[in-house]
Amino acid sequence: MVFERVLDLEDLPVGQARVVELGGEPICVARLDEQTVKAVHDTCSHQQYSLSDGWIDDNTIECAKHGSAFDLDTGDPESLPAVKPIPVYACELRDGAVWVDQADQRNDAPVPRH
Ligand code: FES
Repeated sequence: MVFERVLDLEDLPVGQARVVELGGEPICVARLDEQTVKAVHDTCSHQQYSLSDGWIDDNTIECAKHGSAFDLDTGDPESLPAVKPIPVYACELRDGAVWVDQADQRNDAPVPRH
């Protein structure tokens, strides 16, 4: 496991998401509240839209293209049209920054094409 520093926390306001690149993959980092940040693959499993362009609601991120909402812990879609999960990655806050371990995937979702 190798956590990499991807963002200063001050650059990720509560309720917003940003895309970062790790290991050649786009990773969506989403801030739910002051101390909660989640990391998932940025590519929607429906038609490969960028999830970081979407909206955070509770523990989900909603794709801006067609509205599927994905659980940020399980990666599972909670609404159509997406039916496949997205990868979820280990993520933590430390030293005023967001750290992600892209090699530590927390579910078995296939990495989407992008
Ligand atoms: S591209 Fe995300 S729901 Fe269609």
